[in-house]
Amino acid sequence: MVKKFRLGNPFNTDAVVEKIEPCGIDAFPLELSVGENVTIEFNLEKDDMVFGLGEAVRGINKRGWIYESWCTDETNHTEDKRALYGAHNFIVVSGKTKFGLFVDYPSKIEWDLGYSSPEKCVIKFENPDADLYYIDGESELDIVKQFRKIIGKSYIPPFWAFGYQQSCWGYSKQEDFVNVRESHRENNLPLDCIYMDIDYMEHFKDFTVNRELFPDFKAFVSEMKAHNIHLIPIIDAGVKKEKGYSVYDEGHENGYFCTDKDGNEFECGVWPGIVGLPDFLNSDARRWFGSKYKVLTDMGIDGFWNDMNEPALFYSKQGLNKAFDKLDKIRGKEVDIWGFFESKNAVLGIQNSMDDYKSFYHNADGKRVCHKDVHNIYGSFMTRAAGEYFEEEFGKENKLIFSRASYIGAHRTSGIWFGDNFSWWEHILLNLKMLPSVNMCGFLYSGADLGGFNNNASRDLMLRWLALGVFTPLMRNHRALGTRAQEAYQFGDCKDFADVLAVRYRLIPYLYSTFRNASENDEMIFKPLAFEYPDDKIAREVEDQLMLGSECMIAPVYEQNKTARNVYLPEDMTFVKLSGENVYKEELKKGWHYLNIELNEVPLFVKKGKNIPLAKPALNTAELERENLENLL
Ligand code: GLC
Repeated sequence: MVKKFRLGNPFNTDAVVEKIEPCGIDAFPLELSVGENVTIEFNLEKDDMVFGLGEAVRGINKRGWIYESWCTDETNHTEDKRALYGAHNFIVVSGKTKFGLFVDYPSKIEWDLGYSSPEKCVIKFENPDADLYYIDGESELDIVKQFRKIIGKSYIPPFWAFGYQQSCWGYSKQEDFVNVRESHRENNLPLDCIYMDIDYMEHFKDFTVNRELFPDFKAFVSEMKAHNIHLIPIIDAGVKKEKGYSVYDEGHENGYFCTDKDGNEFECGVWPGIVGLPDFLNSDARRWFGSKYKVLTDMGIDGFWNDMNEPALFYSKQGLNKAFDKLDKIRGKEVDIWGFFESKNAVLGIQNSMDDYKSFYHNADGKRVCHKDVHNIYGSFMTRAAGEYFEEEFGKENKLIFSRASYIGAHRTSGIWFGDNFSWWEHILLNLKMLPSVNMCGFLYSGADLGGFNNNASRDLMLRWLALGVFTPLMRNHRALGTRAQEAYQFGDCKDFADVLAVRYRLIPYLYSTFRNASENDEMIFKPLAFEYPDDKIAREVEDQLMLGSECMIAPVYEQNKTARNVYLPEDMTFVKLSGENVYKEELKKGWHYLNIELNEVPLFVKKGKNIPLAKPALNTAELERENLENLL
């Protein structure tokens, strides 16, 4: 049962769609205190576990660390971090007592989940305006399902968005895209989408296309479509401040940009230089920005990724000036350790600074609000602008859209990707751990940059990561400018890559129906083993395997130079290895197994009495035979 409790006068985040009458706050079941901060406290028993928080570092069981909900442009997804790009304020506490808690509050929240004191959770935030939802239920999954019901159905992308996708910051000319397409085809590597990063724009201006690079963009989009390739351009949150650039001029004339304390347009620096930040909390501005995507949909584009929408701020004018003042003070002087750190921090601190987030304002349909107080919904509302426009104009399931920053609620109109990870083995595992947590919060269409965004990928890392990516709804290989090329054909012999990618296409009908079912029935695609085997102590603690749908379990290899891994079977299962058209099967008993898995194999475990359909391999989703499927077992 879901109970709602209201504190003060909360900002409407639109996270919850079901109308629930609030109970009196005195009946709130956890310890609540409202003073300088609001704190919610509860004790944990020795074996209690805490699940949730969506996109975050560390384990599936979140106990033992301190997290923050604060959408952050954080490229280093290391253990010491507290916040990444999403603010997903939902947890499930699992032990003798089980409950869910959603804190619907759009500013910063600190979640001390047994870090300061191992037996205690303390959740803290500043303004006494929030809706708190307390959910009790029979099981962890039951609690998640009740939560998912009140936040509304998850976004479903078009079918082709389940195909394999290639991206790279750095593809700029038409030839680059044609080369990617042809290289996949020549090497028997399937492909459905190629991404266009900021390089396609005219000087990084949203809704423009560089005419020198793309003399006839519409014709190019349609030529790629004729080869069954969808081009997916990026859209950034900031709009370049430039007179004569129609998007800026329209926004400026209508007062659609965020303002500073004096009511002037707030100016900050991102890719194109100084930008205005569209005021996505204003419904007119939101509708206006959404309608701008038409420039590209008119040219045949049918998918987008929204970026830098935390919003990421490289600098503000006042931030830069402060840093220059600090540096001026030390010019020509001897600098000791303290002076050195002070000036270094002054320069590093200009990016994504809290001072800047405190210094601009929204006109939320007549109500002036400081950005800091609503920070976590900015990116969501940007993506909502696009998602709502697409639904109105083209109907549901017609356009692909996903975002970097997000808050619960955005799951109804878009997907998310997990931002700028590294080509590190540990990030394969982090990718796996995030999947059930984001599912709990409604985000189904999601995935990480396969192969890693920063740093250089090795051949074996790429293959192992793809073997996990085979199962994630968004299966996109993406990397940063200047890193080692990591397209599937860049590592010599492509056969192993073709074998792994073929498995994705063989599984698409199954993955797609699992996805639809999860969206329509508030299910999770990926579950921690603890959700299905709550009485199995080993299963409860497994952090490198996931349940998939209601039939399977996955356990990818995520360490270098390993040809085998330990897998725990919580019940008897059929161990399957898929590779190209080959299928290896072996019945295994409940318990631990050390299983050999080669680089071109995708391991899968099917529960007793279950089966899944397999399609024939295809080079893209348009050519995928969706009828006459065979059974895996
Ligand atoms: C950000 C995005 C990344 C993109 C880059 C350039 O870092 O997270 O995916 O490639 O910007 O647009």
